[in-house]
Amino acid sequence: MKNNILTVGADMGNDAFKIIGPTKRELFIMNILAPWHERRIVNEDTRFPLNLLEVEVISNNQNFGKYFVGGMAYNFNRGILKERSVADRHNGKANDSETMIVLLTSIALSLLKPNVRIIKEKVILGTMLPTEEYFKNQKENVTVLEEKLKGTHRVRFLNPVFNGVEVEFEILGVNTQPEGLCAMNAIMYDDDGNLLAEYENNYSERTILGFDIGALTSDVTVVHNFELRTFFGIDKGTIDPLNRIIDYIKTDYKVTVPRHKLDNAITRREKLLIYGEEIPNLHNICKEYIDYEARQLVDEFTSKAAAAGIQLPDIGLIILCGGGSLLFKEVVKKNLNRIPMIFSENAIMLNAIGAWKNANRLKNDLQEESALDYTAATRI
Ligand SMILES: Nc1ncnc2c1ncn2[C@@H]1O[C@H](COP(=O)(O)OP(=O)(O)OP(=O)(O)O)[C@@H](O)[C@H]1O
Ligand SMILES: [Mg+2]
Repeated sequence: MKNNILTVGADMGNDAFKIIGPTKRELFIMNILAPWHERRIVNEDTRFPLNLLEVEVISNNQNFGKYFVGGMAYNFNRGILKERSVADRHNGKANDSETMIVLLTSIALSLLKPNVRIIKEKVILGTMLPTEEYFKNQKENVTVLEEKLKGTHRVRFLNPVFNGVEVEFEILGVNTQPEGLCAMNAIMYDDDGNLLAEYENNYSERTILGFDIGALTSDVTVVHNFELRTFFGIDKGTIDPLNRIIDYIKTDYKVTVPRHKLDNAITRREKLLIYGEEIPNLHNICKEYIDYEARQLVDEFTSKAAAAGIQLPDIGLIILCGGGSLLFKEVVKKNLNRIPMIFSENAIMLNAIGAWKNANRLKNDLQEESALDYTAATRI
């Protein structure tokens, strides 16, 4: 029976959820929610089912209701768009019911199988919380999150493209780590949790920092000689330059651009049209705001590191990850140029991969425990 337990890794990002499913499949779902409504459609564009997430979520017998999630919320909201903003920085994720709805939808999505309409699974989940939220009040948020997650959840996919699929899953165990630590584990350890030779040979006795730059928060993990030393969080991320650019456009063009729209235009280097007209010189203007905010982030990183007892010359390696490491790359490189640095290739998915590895480890531990219980019981 134990072999039927599936493992899922989930990074509940403020910007997007990153999920590693049981077959190590990667999923990326925008963290946006909107109330469900019946739409008037003649022909649906069904090429991208990930953009057709309309769901009803029932968690531990509580019906959360019907929602559009991710791309669908973005495209079909009726003026009520629930996305995480700066105001949510201190609200945390563990207690946020919207985060829970996106998370349960994402897990259910990762469990879908072709041509099966009723799916029932048992799951062990690896996940994470921002560093400051994780450690607050003797880790009370970790307990809150894990208690909410354990139990049975049901997600019905309402869009016809899913053929009435219903996924019921029981979460048997949860492993929670601070954000950023998962990403470091994903880089430095193999799937079985063994330190990779490359690190063992080159970085023993050194201080390694994991620096995860996210949308709302950035998280630093400090490791010395492969032992965890300390953690700290920084209340900065890609939302800071984005909000400043949104303000600029509001002032000059009298239009409020949604954050995800601007973000897409910047990362894909696309035009931004307002009443059919392109905003001139947009990418150069954006770059100035992005570089300015990146410098602010580096400053805060340096002073928080010092407050944690780490001077820059003590650092033997920085592992940069998170989507923000892509946006802020040049400035971080330039301002911390003497520190050896690696930019992860899979910067965005790393935390989820680490969480998936943690879930696998928890599954193995539980299996060993139950094997011991079985031996003990059969001896009596
Ligand atoms: N290809 C890219 N180039 C540059 N920047 C990118 C790229 N892809 C994503 N980003 C940036 O990464 C940001 C999202 O980063 P990430 O997914 O790590 O955040 P998050 O984990 O959702 O947020 P948090 O860690 O605060 O919960 C986006 O706002 C976007 O600006
Ligand atoms: Mg993140």
